[in-house]
Amino acid sequence: MIDTQNIEITKRAESRINEVDFGNLPFGREFTDHMLMATFEHGQWSNARIIPYGNIPMSPAISAIHYGQSIFEGLKAFKNEAGEIRIFRPESNWQRMNKSAERLCMPTIPKEIFVDGLRQLVNLERNWVPADPSCSLYIRPFMFATDPYLGVKASETYSFAIICSPVGPYYAKPLHLKIETHYTRAAMGGVGFAKAAGNYASAMLPAKLAQLQGIDQLIWTDAKEHAYLEEAGTMNMMVVIDDVLVTPPLTSTILPGVTRDSFLTLAREANFKVEERRISVIELIEGVKAGRVSEVFGVGTAATIAQVIKLTLDDHSYDLPSIETCTISNQIGSQLLAIKKGLEGDTHSWNLLL
Ligand code: COI
Repeated sequence: MIDTQNIEITKRAESRINEVDFGNLPFGREFTDHMLMATFEHGQWSNARIIPYGNIPMSPAISAIHYGQSIFEGLKAFKNEAGEIRIFRPESNWQRMNKSAERLCMPTIPKEIFVDGLRQLVNLERNWVPADPSCSLYIRPFMFATDPYLGVKASETYSFAIICSPVGPYYAKPLHLKIETHYTRAAMGGVGFAKAAGNYASAMLPAKLAQLQGIDQLIWTDAKEHAYLEEAGTMNMMVVIDDVLVTPPLTSTILPGVTRDSFLTLAREANFKVEERRISVIELIEGVKAGRVSEVFGVGTAATIAQVIKLTLDDHSYDLPSIETCTISNQIGSQLLAIKKGLEGDTHSWNLLL
């Protein structure tokens, strides 16, 4: 058991905060003054420490680089006008990181390091949490294999780290998405449900090809038939068809999004009809053509609630209803943000108040 009272804190001599333009925050390019690190060796985690943010010395032979034992998480802290800071559902991210770790044959991380460690880190970086309604502090925990060994086997040593980045919106405008029916993100029995770095690497080329056509992102389809919607890589997908909120069920190919779970919980409580079931590409496109699809949107920590304005399948594009008419994503999206900022009752105890 790690005693977090013993997380050693080494502070940076002078903060960089005045160098950052908080009025114009991009996603993920600015980092706070400190980071947390811990080391796994001899079968246990130790040396949890908060140190100045900076480069990490490493061997060029570490197995994370060569064989991809590398996983991460994403969560956010919010500040309201009263200056209160809340971290949204850190335990859910801790649990999900440990599921990713098990699948990638990596050690699980104790709650004392993940949750208490990030609480201490964000507390130290309080001034970096933006108060602007569209901004937040994005928290990125990650773990990677550090054995300097070129044989293909699970590493025996690992580093865990948490870095923080004050961010604006990931997507600044409503999205144009392509339904991808050639490339595959994840197959049954693989690592699609895990937040494995390699999942994102394999999506780069198909996403770039789409972006060259002016498309923002992809909606992946199943590996076997390319006939059913999966997720969008940066977010889970939701469709409102015949006034029912429908989202693909969680399988081994879909990331179990914390925002997905939060959104579905609130939508059910608000008495919207919700179905977790497969959605075929044909059902979606025919539904759009017939005017039965009233909303398509993605949900994710970085993406928040990302409404979709246009879909492309093969050579055809389809306009979706304007976002002002999107009742469920607008209503539940606003409610979720109000909860995160402590402006509405947190009936599920999702927030960790600092
Ligand atoms: C997140 O939403 O936290 C993600 O990890 C998605 C993306 C930025 C990789």
